[in-house]
Amino acid sequence: MLTNKTIVLGITGGIAAYKAADIASKLTQAGARVEVIMTESATKFIIPLTLRNITGRAVVTDMFELASEFSVEHVALADAADVVAIAPATANTIASLAAGIADDMLGCIVLATRAPIVVAPSMDVNMFENPITQENLSKLKARGFTIVDPAYGRMASGKVGLGRLAETETIIGTIKQMLGRNGDLAGKRITVTAGGTQEPIDPVRHIGNRSSGKMGYAVAEAARDRGAAVSLITTPTCLPEPVGVEVIHVQTVSEMREAVIKATARADALIMAAAVADYKPKSVAKAKIKKDSPSLTLELVRTPDILAEVKGNFIKVGFAAESEDTIDNARRKLQEKQLDLIVANDITSPDSGFGVDTNKVTLIDRDGKVESLPLLTKREVADKILDRVVEFLAKKPPLQRIEFSLWPPSSTERYKRINIPEDVRHLFPEDKVPFLIETDIGTFSVCVKRHENTPSHIHLRRTNWFKAHPELKAGDKVAIEVIEPMKKYRLKVGI
Ligand code: CTP
Repeated sequence: MLTNKTIVLGITGGIAAYKAADIASKLTQAGARVEVIMTESATKFIIPLTLRNITGRAVVTDMFELASEFSVEHVALADAADVVAIAPATANTIASLAAGIADDMLGCIVLATRAPIVVAPSMDVNMFENPITQENLSKLKARGFTIVDPAYGRMASGKVGLGRLAETETIIGTIKQMLGRNGDLAGKRITVTAGGTQEPIDPVRHIGNRSSGKMGYAVAEAARDRGAAVSLITTPTCLPEPVGVEVIHVQTVSEMREAVIKATARADALIMAAAVADYKPKSVAKAKIKKDSPSLTLELVRTPDILAEVKGNFIKVGFAAESEDTIDNARRKLQEKQLDLIVANDITSPDSGFGVDTNKVTLIDRDGKVESLPLLTKREVADKILDRVVEFLAKKPPLQRIEFSLWPPSSTERYKRINIPEDVRHLFPEDKVPFLIETDIGTFSVCVKRHENTPSHIHLRRTNWFKAHPELKAGDKVAIEVIEPMKKYRLKVGI
């Protein structure tokens, strides 16, 4: 996703400036065009030549320097940026950005750009915690800057606290999230499960499986990079937590079940990549089981099938890890668990399945379409799955539809009252809280009201929408559709 993207990387003068070389290097390796701007003090900590060699591009160090293609017109760089990232950002730079000062190239670009701006502070703990710095950061946040919080640890001064520059992966993850904010999953909520569940036997042992979590994490990151709000429900894994994703830690099937039910209450899609135990010990020993008998029998009982059980107005995607009859077994699971899509993989192949970074899968959907994919990275597989989720979401019927008839065009009424039946009232915001209704010509702001003698209702004004549909006659049915409770509503004709 970084390929051919222009990332303007601002480096300011702190001890962590050397870490910007790593950020620039990883972004460049991922295919981004990295335009480095260094403040004068940054050049005291790391020399521009290092960054020039890493990025293969001229480094801007001064507004009046002539070597760079952008040196005369700083606005060109501001326009070219897909994301402006400042890492490390010193207290001084943060203060000057908060005040809108443009006395150097970086300040000019920040003011001139329309691209998202990511700021990764790095400074001494006391400077970071100082109310002035915190106030400046709050100001930047309020203006839409994205702050990558510093990490806790040892600083150059020897003190330990909050102030170390965030990890490169965290900063790059945030940049990716910004790049994907208008992607094809923008505004959607995706729940992903990952890893293998662990069912305790006694305080030190559990029944587990070989799932590494890599597939689920790849789906979560890919969904984030396409603009989705992602909840990742994960068992313990060795993988770093993805940035910009809500991570929910679970261990057992019953914890995962609870988390899935909660997260899917508002989800547009559930992608169940976790390897869930089918059996658990009937009882968990309170003390460590000792090896005092020659054999040991554990009685196991069935766990709930989360994917089969969980229901709602969301797209359901399951995985079928098989060692034989892959396609037939996957088809059966698709039907039994009422899925929209199942991802079947043959786990006996060494380059596919558990632990490895690649996967060879077949996608089977609810309409019977079978798509066998070549060997791909798990991230590529994740994007293929999400392509299908996007297709299904586009076809998804509304959760609820409130139909009403149009009033005669000759009517002098300026408003039409549309009653909200009590059984769907909970799908709308509270009384008098404004919300938007989308239409084919723009959005209207409305709110639900209730008077003593009237049920809950919305007043719909005669607006341009009615003018835009001259074909509508009195008595024609139109509808308010609830696409996502509390969030997305649509006014629709042609129902
Ligand atoms: N799954 C689940 N809850 C379970 C078992 C499985 O939600 N108790 C989900 C998995 O996350 C996966 C899909 O169901 O998305 C299929 O899982 P899999 O282990 O392949 O199949 P099972 O239904 O467990 O059937 P079997 O083990 O007999 O192959």
